Amino acid sequence: MNPQMLFWIPAALRMLLIFAVSAVAWFFWGPVCGLLLCLMSMVAMVVLQLYYLYRLGGWLDNPRGEKLPDGWGAWTDIFSRLYRLRRDDEKNQAELSEWLARFRQAMHLLPDGVVIMDDVLFLEWCNPAAERHLGLQHGRDKGMRVTNLIRNPDFIDYIILGRYDQPLMLTLRERKLVVQIIPFENRRQILVTHDATESERIDMMRRDFIANASHELRTPLTVINGFLEIAQAHPNLDPNVRAGHLKMMTEQGHRMQNLIGDMLTLTRLESIDYPMRPERVNIHAMLKNILQEVEVLSAGQHVFSLRVEGPDINGSTEELRSAFNNLVSNAVRYTPPGGKIDLLWQNTMAGPQLVVRDSGIGFSPEHISRLTERFYRVDKSRSRETQGTGLGLAIVKHVLLRHGGTLAVESTPDKGSVFTVRLPASIVVEKADLLND
Ligand SMILES: Nc1ncnc2c1ncn2[C@@H]1O[C@H](COP(=O)(O)OP(=O)(O)OP(=O)(O)O)[C@@H](O)[C@H]1O
Ligand SMILES: [Mg+2]
Repeated sequence: MNPQMLFWIPAALRMLLIFAVSAVAWFFWGPVCGLLLCLMSMVAMVVLQLYYLYRLGGWLDNPRGEKLPDGWGAWTDIFSRLYRLRRDDEKNQAELSEWLARFRQAMHLLPDGVVIMDDVLFLEWCNPAAERHLGLQHGRDKGMRVTNLIRNPDFIDYIILGRYDQPLMLTLRERKLVVQIIPFENRRQILVTHDATESERIDMMRRDFIANASHELRTPLTVINGFLEIAQAHPNLDPNVRAGHLKMMTEQGHRMQNLIGDMLTLTRLESIDYPMRPERVNIHAMLKNILQEVEVLSAGQHVFSLRVEGPDINGSTEELRSAFNNLVSNAVRYTPPGGKIDLLWQNTMAGPQLVVRDSGIGFSPEHISRLTERFYRVDKSRSRETQGTGLGLAIVKHVLLRHGGTLAVESTPDKGSVFTVRLPASIVVEKADLLND
C-alpha cells in the first residue's frame, strides 16, 4: 500500500473515533455534553499538533543539536522518516568527506600538476605539484586569472590559439614542462603539467653520446680510409712511406678498439643486469702492478712514488683496477717529461682513499664539474695526441658509484692536479701494515 495512505488512514480513523464517542455522549447525556466532548477532543488534538509543529520547527533550525520527540499518531511516522533521512544524509556526507580526503591525498601525491580553472581561466584549485611547476600558491592565488600568474608568452599564445588537443612544451623556472589544457563540465578547464626535465636530459645525453661516439669513430676511420686509398692509387709506393702509413693505420685501429672497449665497459657498468661481485682486493699489489705498467708508458720520463698505508678492501678487483689505472695513466699522459707523480693509499676517519698527485699541465677549475662527462676533454687537440677518448673518468665515476665512493678533483694550470678517490669505511677488510715503496 502507498505509504501516504498508511499515514492518512490512522489520522482519519482517529477523527472518526472522536466523532463516534461524541455521538454516543450526545445520545446518552445530551447534545451539550456531546458537543463539549467533541470540542475538547479537537482542542487537545490541535494543541498536540501545535506542540509537535513547534518541536519540528526547532529541530529544522538545528537538526544536529535538537532531538526529535518520539511523536504520537501520524507524528511518529513523520519523525521516524525524518530521522531516517538525517541518518542517510549523515552517512552520505561521511562517505563524501572520506572520498574528498582520499582524492586530496591522491592529488597531493601526484607527481604531475593539476590546476582547476573556471571558463574564464580564474584559478579555483591546484595541487602541490602544480604549485612547484608553475610557481603558484593556492591560498594566495585562488580567484586570480591564470594568465596573470603564469606570464609566459608561449603559454599565453597556447591559450589564445586554444589548440588544446596538443600539449605544449614549456620552459619555466628552469624546468621543461609538458602542459595541456583539458576542458570539462562546460564551464571548467583542467590544466595538467608534467615535468619532463629529467627525460629531456636523458634524451639529450643519448643524442650527445651517439653524436660524440660517431664523431670519435669517424676520425680514425677517415685516416685509415685515406691511407688505403693512397695504397690503392700508388701500388709502387716507397716501402718506408708505406711502413709509416701502416703504423698510423694500426694506431688508429687501436684507437677505435680502445674507444669501443671503453664504451662497452661503460654500458656494462651502467647495466643493472651486471651486478658487482665483491671480493678481497689487494690494493698494494694492484697499485704496484699499475705502476709497473705506467712506467712503460712514461718511458723513464717521470719520477714515481707509491705509499700504501691503508687496508685492503672488498670490491671488484677488475673495476677498481680499471678506475685506478685510468687516474694514474692520466697523470702520466698529462704531465710533461721530468714531472713527478705520487700515489698514496691511506685510511681516514671517513674511509680509505687513493690520492693521485701529479705536477702536470693541470686545468682551470671550471672544467672540474664536467670532467666525468663522457667524451669530455679539457683540450681536445692535446687529448688526441695522447690518444685519449674522454671516457676514462666517466668509467672512474661509474666504478666509484658502484662501490659507494666519490671522486674529488683539485687542479692548478701548469702546476698539477690531485685526484682523490674516497671510498666508504664499510668496504674495509683489515688494516694493512705500513708499506712504503
Ligand atoms: N691528471 C690530469 N691532468 C690534467 N688534465 C687531466 C688529468 N686527468 C684528466 N685530465 C683531463 O680530463 C680529460 C678527461 O679525462 P679522461 O680520462 O676521461 O679522458 P682521456 O684521458 O682524454 O681519455 P681516456 O681516458 O678515455 O683514454 C682529459 O682529456 C684531460 O683533458
Ligand atoms: Mg684518461
